[in-house]
Amino acid sequence: MPMLLCMDDEQPAAQRLLAALQARNPAAGEPWRLGVIERHRFPDGELRVRLPPALPPAVAVYRSLHQPNEKLVELLLLAPAARELGAQRLWLVAPYLAYMRQDMAFSPGEVVSQRQVGRWLASVFDGLITVDPHLHRVATLVEAVPLAQAQVLSAAPLLAQTVAARRPGALLLGPDEESEQWVRQAAAAAGLQAAVCRKVRHGDRDVQVQLPPLDMRGRAVVIVDDMASTGRTVAQAAAALRAAGAASVDVAVTHALFVGDALAALRAAGVGEVWSTDSVPHASNAVFLAPLLARALAGLEA
Ligand code: R5P
Repeated sequence: MPMLLCMDDEQPAAQRLLAALQARNPAAGEPWRLGVIERHRFPDGELRVRLPPALPPAVAVYRSLHQPNEKLVELLLLAPAARELGAQRLWLVAPYLAYMRQDMAFSPGEVVSQRQVGRWLASVFDGLITVDPHLHRVATLVEAVPLAQAQVLSAAPLLAQTVAARRPGALLLGPDEESEQWVRQAAAAAGLQAAVCRKVRHGDRDVQVQLPPLDMRGRAVVIVDDMASTGRTVAQAAAALRAAGAASVDVAVTHALFVGDALAALRAAGVGEVWSTDSVPHASNAVFLAPLLARALAGLEA
């Protein structure tokens, strides 16, 4: 019986995935069961993780990698231990995959984090399932995480359904060139118009966004992106849209990182609603990824 392992702080999402796995055709394959990994932080900051003491041959670890640094240490500790405890096939289900944006050395000596994190994950797991990873200068996930079983899922069609129901006829706008892949998918899924802005980044919280040459007056616009972190990309696009006469500006993102005052920045820029997936737990979660992840995981197991 395959096991889905999760950390104690991610049980709700893992439970949803387990339910989706169990809801699939019960005749197809063995039922999954859940194992919870306990964590303890020692006074000096070191971590102890405790796995179920006997693991089946097929194990999937659910760990979404927002706020990633400590989680990568957890994976470093648990992946080889899982094999010692019986796992023969070990997959990682990471709806949000961290460290994908640093995909080139922008100055001499800068570490290409995407490559290093990707190679390391590939050295400890047999397969990876993730959602809308930030692949910009590489075309496929396997170039970043060199695993035969590296599977990318997209939440864009699911987010598009929410957008189409809430804002029929909206213009979907990508805030930068990198977002084009998601905004075009979402627009195709919902039969909506799509356009993309140009962005120049000057610093972590300092971006300039230039709208495409379209008449925005009176339009309902939904900004679509893979993630919002500081929210400045979306906020700049929203402020420009409001100044150009857009009737409403809403936001649909796969990964709701929303650090610090990001949401306040969005509101100040004139953003109405925010919709996201549950890849990162957040009040804006409107799309649940469990059925999508379950389908992919069942495919890996087969
Ligand atoms: C980068 O191109 C991504 O797609 C996002 O647009 C970016 O990471 C958002 O960052 P922030 O919210 O900090 O502007």
